[in-house]
Amino acid sequence: MPQAVFNKPFTQQEPIPADAIDEAVKVLQSGRLHRYNTLPGEFGETAEWEREYAAYQGSKFCLATASGGTAMQIALRASGVQAGDQVLTNAFTLAPVPGAISAVGAEPVFVEANDNLTIDLDDLAAKLASTGAKTLMLSHMRGHIAPMEKLCALLEQHGAQMIEDCAHTMGAKWNGTKSGNFGLAACFSTQTYKHINSGEGGLLTSDDPDLMAKASILSGSYMLYEKHLARPDMDAHAEARLDMPNCSSRMDNLRAAILRPQLKLLDQNIERWNHRYQVMEQSLQTIPGLTIPVRPQQEFYVGSSFQFLVPNWDDDACRQFLAACLERGVELKWFGDANPVGFTSRFDSWRYAQNQSLDQTILVLKRIMDMRIPLSFSVEDCQQIGQIIADEFSKKQSDMNTSS
Ligand SMILES: Cc1ncc(COP(=O)(O)O)c(C=O)c1O
Repeated sequence: MPQAVFNKPFTQQEPIPADAIDEAVKVLQSGRLHRYNTLPGEFGETAEWEREYAAYQGSKFCLATASGGTAMQIALRASGVQAGDQVLTNAFTLAPVPGAISAVGAEPVFVEANDNLTIDLDDLAAKLASTGAKTLMLSHMRGHIAPMEKLCALLEQHGAQMIEDCAHTMGAKWNGTKSGNFGLAACFSTQTYKHINSGEGGLLTSDDPDLMAKASILSGSYMLYEKHLARPDMDAHAEARLDMPNCSSRMDNLRAAILRPQLKLLDQNIERWNHRYQVMEQSLQTIPGLTIPVRPQQEFYVGSSFQFLVPNWDDDACRQFLAACLERGVELKWFGDANPVGFTSRFDSWRYAQNQSLDQTILVLKRIMDMRIPLSFSVEDCQQIGQIIADEFSKKQSDMNTSS
């Protein structure tokens, strides 16, 4: 019998919803794309978007930015990180995270990952103590959330602050608290592959008036921050308006107009993602040798991507498995490759950061297979993908057993 082949692209999103397109057209017809291009007494799309996202997130303040990466840079700088400071972050994350730390002149210090793909709290404790670093940029990488009570207690014990990178956890929760509401500030991305899509875009949320006043000026608000709807009091800006440089990282009204209707669909899309995730999980959870990261009961995740771990195969075996899946239309990403490919790169390829040895993370990365779950895939598609991975994994596993 010929083998089933999956034939949809892994990179295609659903279209932008029709009402979002209508709103975008209105902005285009007005010609007023710049967020501060408003008439007296009027607030722009971007200001309204910030107000709506702050309400969804349950945060006091919100600032929209040009990207998730710029939101992180602004958050770091507004939180007081200075050039030369060490900033702790996950070794398992994507390049914009250490990139943001480096962009403010700070030094990324990587913390080991564990098999659940979250930050290793023992290594975090050790590095808080050994480096004296006072900032953690916590990346909820691929939507996996670490035990937040324990993590926050550790930070408190060391007097360290936290900025959350929620690029993969918009809408997710830990023990009923939204991801992003555990630290001083949180950063989100609205880039195409994330939970809402404006091509590029970011958000910064916080309850801290001083940080947010600084962030507004850093984002490039000039002296126009009065036109923001999710900002601290005007008085909070008194010093920041003179102290902070303008780093031109604003969001524009066109993107905000596209995002506002999408936020209304987010919770229902999370259910759709989780349904697909759970179908994949069911297809793979009984396959001997294949490990699916544990999703703790406190975690309300958004299954917009799926990861599993292969055994300690060598690099060639991993590549052969990837090639066999690809041959059947299933495009997996492998975090173990020493050579950066596409969006995927390993911490030891970021040569601007100091060389650090993280043996545990290397072992984890070499085992991680990863795929995004675009909502353009149906539940049946996910069943078929799960079946193909299960077949190819079992074949490879039996090859490995016979050759050993
Ligand atoms: C984990 C993580 N954090 C942050 C970002 C930054 O987002 P952006 O692309 O909007 O700068 C990304 C983007 O892919 C990401 O994957």
